Amino acid sequence: MSTEKRFERTLVTSALPYANGHIHLGHIAGAYLPPDIYCRYKRLRGERVLFIGGSDEYGVPITLSALKENVSPQEIIDRYHAANAEAFARLGISFDLYGRTSWPLHIDTTQAFFKKLDEGGFVHKDDVQLWYSEQTERFLPDRYVKGTCPRCGFEDANGDECENCGAQYSYEELVAPRANIPGDTSTPVLRHSAHWFLDLPAFTDKLKAYLDTHPEWRANVRGIAYGWAEDLRPRCITRDTDWGVPIPLDDPDAAAKRLYVWFDNVIGYVTNTRQWGIDTYGDENAWEIWWKDAGTRALYFLGKDNVPFHAVIFPVMLMAQGDYILADNVVANEYLNVFNRATGQSEKGSKSRGNMISVRWILDKFAPDAVRYYLCANAPESRDSSFDWDEFLARYNGELCDVVGNFVHRCLTMTVRNFDSQVPEPGVLDEEDQALLDFLPRQLDEVADALERFRFRQAIERFIEMGRRANQYFDVKQPWVTRKTDPERTATTLYVCCQVVRALCTAMAPFVPFGAATLADIIGITLPTGGPEGGEDGWNAAKELWPAGSPLQKPTVLFPKLDKDEIALRAEEHERGEAF
Ligand code: MF3
Ligand code: ZN
Repeated sequence: MSTEKRFERTLVTSALPYANGHIHLGHIAGAYLPPDIYCRYKRLRGERVLFIGGSDEYGVPITLSALKENVSPQEIIDRYHAANAEAFARLGISFDLYGRTSWPLHIDTTQAFFKKLDEGGFVHKDDVQLWYSEQTERFLPDRYVKGTCPRCGFEDANGDECENCGAQYSYEELVAPRANIPGDTSTPVLRHSAHWFLDLPAFTDKLKAYLDTHPEWRANVRGIAYGWAEDLRPRCITRDTDWGVPIPLDDPDAAAKRLYVWFDNVIGYVTNTRQWGIDTYGDENAWEIWWKDAGTRALYFLGKDNVPFHAVIFPVMLMAQGDYILADNVVANEYLNVFNRATGQSEKGSKSRGNMISVRWILDKFAPDAVRYYLCANAPESRDSSFDWDEFLARYNGELCDVVGNFVHRCLTMTVRNFDSQVPEPGVLDEEDQALLDFLPRQLDEVADALERFRFRQAIERFIEMGRRANQYFDVKQPWVTRKTDPERTATTLYVCCQVVRALCTAMAPFVPFGAATLADIIGITLPTGGPEGGEDGWNAAKELWPAGSPLQKPTVLFPKLDKDEIALRAEEHERGEAF
C-alpha cells in the first residue's frame, strides 16, 4: 500500500488493438477489463487517474486484412475502429479517450520521437537482406511471408517468429518461404534493402537496473523481460511499405519506407494523451505531466504476447528520449482459452478454428455485467484460463445473482414493505449485528488491497464474500419470521442489512458498473465519478454508516439470471463458429 502514496496521479494504458477485426473476449480478459476495473476503483477513491486506449491502425496486420478483403486499408481501419470503440463502450470499458494512430497528430508525435532518438545517436542505417516477391514486385515484411519454422517444423510459421513453438529467428532462417499474398505463387528470394535500427544493446545496463527496481512485477513479465535483456540486438524500426508513419529523414532510401508499426503504436499512447489534453483543456501541453512528471505512476496493461514491447523495447525508447518516466508496472495477463464441449478439452482461441467469441456478439445476447463478472472471476491472471459456457452460467448465477443480487433484493424488498421505504431505526445491536458491521469496512479494505496488487480474481472473490456473510446473517436473523413477532429486532436486522447493501453498492461498482449504477439510484447514493482531476473518496465514504431514515426505493432485479436453455443454444451457435 505504500507505493501509491508516492504518486500524485496514475496513467493507465491498455494495449491498442489492431483495427483489423472485431475485438473478442480473449482481448477483453487480457488487456481491457482488468485496467477498467482498476480505473473505476481509482475514480471511486477520488484519485487522479487517466485511462488511455485506442486503435492500432498501421502495419502489416492492417494491409494484409485489406488485401484479403480486397478493400483499402483506410476502409478496414475505419470499419473496425468504429466497431471496436462501440463494443468497448457497450461493455463499459471506460477509456478517457479511445484514439487512433491514423490521426495526423500521431504522425507529429511519432516523427518528433524518432528525430529525438536519431539526434541522440541511437538510430543507425544498415543494409539487410529481406524476402522479396518477384511476381508482385514487393518486399514481404513480417506476415507477408510464411514458411516452415526452422526450430519445430510448424508449416504456418511467420517470417521471424513461430506461433507454434514461440521461437524467434532471423528472416533467412525461415524454411520453404512462400508469399502470403492471394494469387502470389512465386518463391520469395532474398534481396538487399536499407533500414533503420534502434540501438537496444546500448541500454542493456539501464534496462536491467530498471527491471531490478521492480521485483513486485508479475513473474511472467519479469521472466520475459530479463530473457530479452540478456540478449538485446539492434532492432529494425522501419519497413518496406507505404502504410505507416513516414520516416522523417532526408534520405532517398527512406521515401518508400515507413516506420514499423511496433515503433509507432506504443507512441500512440502519447498521441492519445496529447489529444485528450487538447480535447479536455484546449491545452497542447497537458499531456506532459502524465508522461514526464515523476509524480505520475504509469501502468501498462496488455496480453502476454505484448510483454517484450512494453517491458523492454518501449522502456528503451523512453530512456533514449531522456525525459520520459518509465512504467511502474507492466501488468500482463495470460491467455483466455476456449473450452470445447465436444472434446472436453480447452483449446487456444483462434480465428481459423472459428472458436472466438466477439464482444459485439455476446453483448447482443447477454448483459455486460454478466460478461464482466465471469471474465473477472475467471481471469487468466497467473495462468491461462478458459471460457466455458457451463461455468459462465454456474458462476454468474450462483455467485453474482444468488449471493449478491438475491441478498440486495431480499433486504430492500422487506425494508420497503415494512419500514416505509426508509433505512430502519435500529434498536440495541447484538454481537452478530456488530460483527457484520465491523466486517464491512475491513472487507472493503481487503477488496481494495487486492485491486492495488492487481489481483482481480481475489478482489472479486472478496466482494462476493461480503454477500455470503450477509446472507448467512440474514438466514440466522430470519427477519421474515421476526417481522410478525418482534418489530424492533426486525428493524435492527434490516438496518444492518441496509449497511451491507450500501457497502456492496460501492464494492461492486468497479466490476459490474451497470448493476451498481442501478442500485445507487435505488438507494439514493451517488457513486463518485472522479477521473483525471480526482474527486471525493467514495470508497471510504462507503465505510460510514448509512443513517436511519435514508429513503430507498422498491428494488428492481440488478442481475437477471441466465437461463440454462438459452446458454445451451448460445453454446451451440458458438460451436458452429457463429459467435463472432
Ligand atoms: N496492436 C497490438 C496487438 O494487437 C498491440 C499494440 S499495443 C501498443 O497485439 F502499445 F503498441 F499500442
Ligand atoms: Zn516453431
